[in-house]
Amino acid sequence: MQQTLDLTIAFVKNTLADAEAGHDWFHIERVFKTAQTINQTEQANSLIVALAALLHDIADSKFNNGDEEIGPQKAGEFLTSINVDQEVINEVKLIIRHLSFKASFDKNSYQSKELNVVQDADRLDAIGAIGIARAFTYGGYKNRVLYNPEIKPNLNMTKEEYKNAVSPTLNHFYEKLLLLKDLMKTETGKKMAQQRHDFMLAYLEQFYAEWEGRK
Ligand code: ADP
Ligand code: NI
Repeated sequence: MQQTLDLTIAFVKNTLADAEAGHDWFHIERVFKTAQTINQTEQANSLIVALAALLHDIADSKFNNGDEEIGPQKAGEFLTSINVDQEVINEVKLIIRHLSFKASFDKNSYQSKELNVVQDADRLDAIGAIGIARAFTYGGYKNRVLYNPEIKPNLNMTKEEYKNAVSPTLNHFYEKLLLLKDLMKTETGKKMAQQRHDFMLAYLEQFYAEWEGRK
């Protein structure tokens, strides 16, 4: 197992060499470690959890014309090339395919303990201190303002509207980040999310206080 993981880590590092900051190797490493923490209590198949965590972002559909199949396909080809069992490959591909925010709303979609572990770990990286940093990095990249009290968060945007909207980065907290806590599947994930959630609420309090010159 260790050799399979070492080869996969080398492949992912190489594939993500030019990735943007939100989805670079360090995002993968955090998800990989968090997935292992969660799996200490969850006890899902540790090889499948590790491989799915490592390979989940090698081809983001957002940067591949919305093609959701490229990621699972590239992962499958790589795992075949290092002789991983076909059943393991199939599970890993299913997990990668179902990891997106979008797929998680499809109630009939594939479910497994391994998916829950990796999905919780990936979502945890979008909240808390790291999540805040990632949101402002993304906002900066999109040239968005930090905050504008006159532009209210909009929870009913389509995916296309959302992508093109010029919402302030703070709105993203209400449109997505503060909703993630209630989407956690595992017990450990829920606990970790609650702590990170409370940290974001405290952060927002401080942000508004500073914005208004109250503190
Ligand atoms: P993931 O890899 O978790 O599916 P995304 O690709 O949607 O996440 O986003 C990567 C990071 O950028 C996340 O931390 C997410 O919160 C952040 N992000 C995405 N959309 C926005 C936005 N409109 N404003 C601020 N941050 C965003
Ligand atoms: Ni991710």
